[in-house]
Amino acid sequence: MQQISVCNLSYAVFFACMISLVPTSFAASGDVVEIKHGQLLAQTCAACHGADGNTANAALYPNLAGQFPDYIVLQLTNFKSGERPNGLMRTFANSLQQSDMQAVGAYFGAQKAKPQPSVDKTVEGKGRLIFTRGSAAGAPACVTCHGQRGHGQGAFPRVASQPMQYTLEQLHVYRDAEKFNNPLASEMKTIALKVNEEEMRAVSAYLATLP
Ligand code: HEC
Ligand code: HEC
Repeated sequence: MQQISVCNLSYAVFFACMISLVPTSFAASGDVVEIKHGQLLAQTCAACHGADGNTANAALYPNLAGQFPDYIVLQLTNFKSGERPNGLMRTFANSLQQSDMQAVGAYFGAQKAKPQPSVDKTVEGKGRLIFTRGSAAGAPACVTCHGQRGHGQGAFPRVASQPMQYTLEQLHVYRDAEKFNNPLASEMKTIALKVNEEEMRAVSAYLATLP
């Protein structure tokens, strides 16, 4: 209740102040409830994605920690509809209502992502150049959309700290899939077509180490 004292200025300012405080405090407590609900749901996901969204099995599963809640919801929706084909994730997505997806997205999105250990500094260095400058065949620098630190922005997902195997696999999927209905995935496909195999490996290795 201490914030209210800052509103104790004049009658008019006080009212404006109270009105501005009310929605914020509601939103904050709503978030806490949603994240708590998400944490319960996340127990089902923990075996593969880790209880805090950092997977214990980087060779097989992606991290969800620090990912945008909206992106998590979109991908769960895509798994459910089959737009993103994956039998395993479809089963889990099928068990979630829209509000559950939002809650689990809010929970994982609020967790801190842990980078993967460095494996080969030379390869990772090559990957950094692709990330910041683009590929030899003219794919634009990844930072343009995924942000300077790979933390994503708007519709562009976080790609930092993701296990190398997963990023590489996703780049292959974007490159090899015949077509996507989702315009964002189509956008990423035009990029992947201009990144060769060696560049894909290097940039995936670099992204894994990015905090
Ligand atoms: C048995 C293992 C397993 C469990 C349990 C599991 N997942 Fe997954 N999840 C995967 C795999 C494998 C992928 C990668 C799918 C692909 O390659 O397209 C994935 C991918 C995802 C993605 C896409 C990530 C991205 O960066 O695009 C999201 C979101 C996701 N899972 C959410 C969940 C949620 C939420 C739960 C719990 C309700 C859950 N998963 C439970 C194995 C699992
Ligand atoms: C013009 C914008 C743009 C550029 C440049 C771009 N991306 Fe993307 N990327 C996207 C969008 C949009 C998505 C989400 C697509 C979807 O919904 O499937 C995406 C998704 C991804 C994903 C999947 C993430 C996940 O967890 O599911 C990876 C990995 C990725 N990009 C890597 C890269 C790399 C590496 C580069 C640089 C070589 C790059 N991107 C350049 C727009 C871009």
